[in-house]
Amino acid sequence: MTKKIHKAVIPAAGFGTRFLPATKAIPKEMLALVDKPLIQYGVEEALAAGIDEIIIVTSRGKSAIEDHFDMSPELESSLEARGKTELLELTRKVSNMVLVSYVRQKEPLGLGHAVLQTRDMVGDEPFAVILPDDVIDAATPCLKQMVDVFGQVESSILATQIVEGPAISSYGVLDCDPVKDNPRLHAVKGLVEKPKQADAPSKNAIIGRYILTPHIFELLEHIPKGAGGELQLTDGIKGLLDTEKVFGYTFEGRRYDAGDKAGMLQATVDFALKRSDLGPGLREYLKQIRL
Ligand code: G1P
Repeated sequence: MTKKIHKAVIPAAGFGTRFLPATKAIPKEMLALVDKPLIQYGVEEALAAGIDEIIIVTSRGKSAIEDHFDMSPELESSLEARGKTELLELTRKVSNMVLVSYVRQKEPLGLGHAVLQTRDMVGDEPFAVILPDDVIDAATPCLKQMVDVFGQVESSILATQIVEGPAISSYGVLDCDPVKDNPRLHAVKGLVEKPKQADAPSKNAIIGRYILTPHIFELLEHIPKGAGGELQLTDGIKGLLDTEKVFGYTFEGRRYDAGDKAGMLQATVDFALKRSDLGPGLREYLKQIRL
């Protein structure tokens, strides 16, 4: 099996109901975190991990995503004519970023089903999955950390973080053992999607970054409906355990749930504060708000 991860799958077919009415006509993946759509953060993270092909799973009403990564001739000539060189470069950079292909998920049957739609495009090689709602700020991008670990373990790897309290029921949760000599790695024994807090096998929650071996596709073909009546990626990964090792990886960095309004607001403040053009002004503004 090749050790190099070339392709990343980005599921972007969901309705984004948590952000209605903003997402009625705009894909949630196109909501801006400061001034970049969420999905672009995912694509940039994939590029930073050495990935050279992105496969985005879309659905009806998501054409803004395709337009975003396409050329924009009218906008470009207008920017050129007005001498807006920096903005022109920024616009061109997005369309030249990487090879992006698209596949449609015709019905919203779940994350496992969304990933299954990419089977022919991924082929017989290990690949990454990035859930664009999960934005991760890290010195070394999360997926790059995982690609490096994949080079050592050559097995499927799931990003994890500790989640306390009832919030654990919103995640896939690992039953796992620590791995000797690597405090960030856990050997997965079992996993369950969105358990009740009392049934959660640990506090290790799956965060939206995965490296998966291609065997997952065969398993996803046959999984029954799981949590929420959907075909769950977590259940497919559980099937991998019969024949392969699977690891949880506690990444270094901070994750924001940008699919959630509060998470998006936190990410917006933190990301803007880090920017040299926005940070100082925002800091001043925040200081003078009476809380
Ligand atoms: C998905 C996965 C879940 C994972 C989560 C991370 O759930 O099914 O296992 O923990 O992403 O964000 P969703 O948030 O799409 O319901």
